[in-house]
Amino acid sequence: MKLTVQDLNSHYGPAHILFDIGFEVGEGEVVALLGRNGAGKSTTFRSIVGLVAQRTGRIVFEGKNVSAKPTHEIVREGLGYVPEERRIFTDLTVEENLEVGRQPKRPNAPHWDREKLFALFPNLGEMKNRPGGRMSGGEQQMLTIARTLMGNPSLVLLDEPSEGLSPKIVEQMVDAILTMKKEGVSIVVSEQNLHFARLISDRAYIIERGRICFGGTMAELDARPDIRDAHLSL
Ligand SMILES: Nc1ncnc2c1ncn2[C@@H]1O[C@H](COP(=O)(O)OP(=O)(O)OP(=O)(O)O)[C@@H](O)[C@H]1O
Ligand SMILES: [Mg+2]
Repeated sequence: MKLTVQDLNSHYGPAHILFDIGFEVGEGEVVALLGRNGAGKSTTFRSIVGLVAQRTGRIVFEGKNVSAKPTHEIVREGLGYVPEERRIFTDLTVEENLEVGRQPKRPNAPHWDREKLFALFPNLGEMKNRPGGRMSGGEQQMLTIARTLMGNPSLVLLDEPSEGLSPKIVEQMVDAILTMKKEGVSIVVSEQNLHFARLISDRAYIIERGRICFGGTMAELDARPDIRDAHLSL
C-alpha cells in the first residue's frame, strides 16, 4: 500500500473530531474522501501530515511509519498536501511561486518541471510573470497544486480541489488530475461533489461526523443510493 491510515483519532482542545479513521491508498490510485461540511475531511488530511497536535493512530507512508514525524519531514518523504485555503504568495509571480515548492527528484515518483506543469495547467503558462494576487480563485487553485508537484511527491492530498470553480475550470481540473494519475502520482481527494469525484476516482470512502461509514469502488457506491443519500448532500 502507498498510504495506510489506522485508528486515527484527533482532537481540537476538548473536542473529539476524528474517531478511529482507517483507509488505504494503493500505488497509483485516486481515492476520494467524501463528506459533508464539517464531516472531518480537512482534519483527516491535516492529521496525516502532522498539522493536528492532538492525534493518535498509525500513518504508514511507503512502508514507513510517519505518525510521529513533523510536517516538514513527512512532506520531504514525498507526501504532498494541497490545503483547502489556497496559500499562494500574492506578491510573487507564478514562476516564483513554483520555485518555492521545488524539491529534489525522487527515484519512486514522477519528476515535474515548469514546462511539464505549464502543459498540465495551460492557463498558468499564459501568466508566468503575473503576481499570484492578480489571479482568479481557480487559477490560484491550479498554482497551489502545481507548486506542490514541484516537490515531486509520490502521493498528494488534495483538499476539495473543485470547490468554487466554474464548470469550465472544473473540467480542466479533472483533466489535470487524470494526467497526474497517468504520470504515476497517487492521489487522495476530499470532496463534497460526488459528480466530480466520480470522474476521477477509483474508490471512495465516506466520512460522517468523524467516522468512516463506507468504503468501496465508485460502482459500489453508485449501487447504494441509500448510503449516498444518507451521508452526502447532492
Ligand atoms: N481549528 C479548529 N478548532 C476547533 N474545531 C475545529 C477546528 N477546525 C475544524 N474544527 C471542527 O472539526 C470538525 C471537522 O472540520 P473539518 O474542517 O475537518 O471538516 P471538513 O469535512 O473539511 O468540512 P468542509 O467541507 O466544510 O471543509 C467540524 O466540526 C469543525 O467545526
Ligand atoms: Mg474541509
